[in-house]
Amino acid sequence: MKAHIFFENEWLKIINDDVLKTEEIEDHSIDLIVTSPPYNVDIKYNSHNDKLSYRDYLEFSRKWLTRCYHWLKEDGRLCLNIPLDKNKGGQQSVGADLTTIAKGIGFKYHSTIIWNEGNISRRTAWGSWLSASAPYVIAPVEVIIVLYKRTVVSAKKLS
Ligand SMILES: C[S@@+](CC[C@H](N)C(=O)[O-])C[C@H]1O[C@@H](n2cnc3c(N)ncnc32)[C@H](O)[C@@H]1O
Repeated sequence: MKAHIFFENEWLKIINDDVLKTEEIEDHSIDLIVTSPPYNVDIKYNSHNDKLSYRDYLEFSRKWLTRCYHWLKEDGRLCLNIPLDKNKGGQQSVGADLTTIAKGIGFKYHSTIIWNEGNISRRTAWGSWLSASAPYVIAPVEVIIVLYKRTVVSAKKLS
């Protein structure tokens, strides 16, 4: 078995490879991609640098989103789990920015699922204290952005 094939049988193939380089996935072969990519919040991964400049992070995201676009079938879907925003290392609109990049690649926007974590432990809780002119809003949510390629398959059609 090839080094980056972790497991393979008739129904299932688990690939342990770099999303930017792997040649194990054929174009137009996937119905649904569900992914939780790096958030760029300085998590200590073995190989991936999770502390890129925001510009480099968006460029990295554009590259793997482009690969996902090619891997999806024409009626395929991408469910992208990312934080709504981030404040570690500077406030950024991660959800909006990755949606814009995905649309630039050719994805169409379907909907957003809000994952209401209610967990503010990784975020500052100081709010706007002593700083009324700079309101600081903490949104303890992640989003799952649902994107599609070309064909919209309605629930009615499926039933
Ligand atoms: C936010 S975590 C997702 C964790 C996953 N949801 C889980 O429960 O294990 C992002 C993951 O992307 C992986 N990753 C980062 N860069 C990658 C790359 N170029 N190719 C493949 N995976 C990568 C990291 O190793 C990490 O496991």
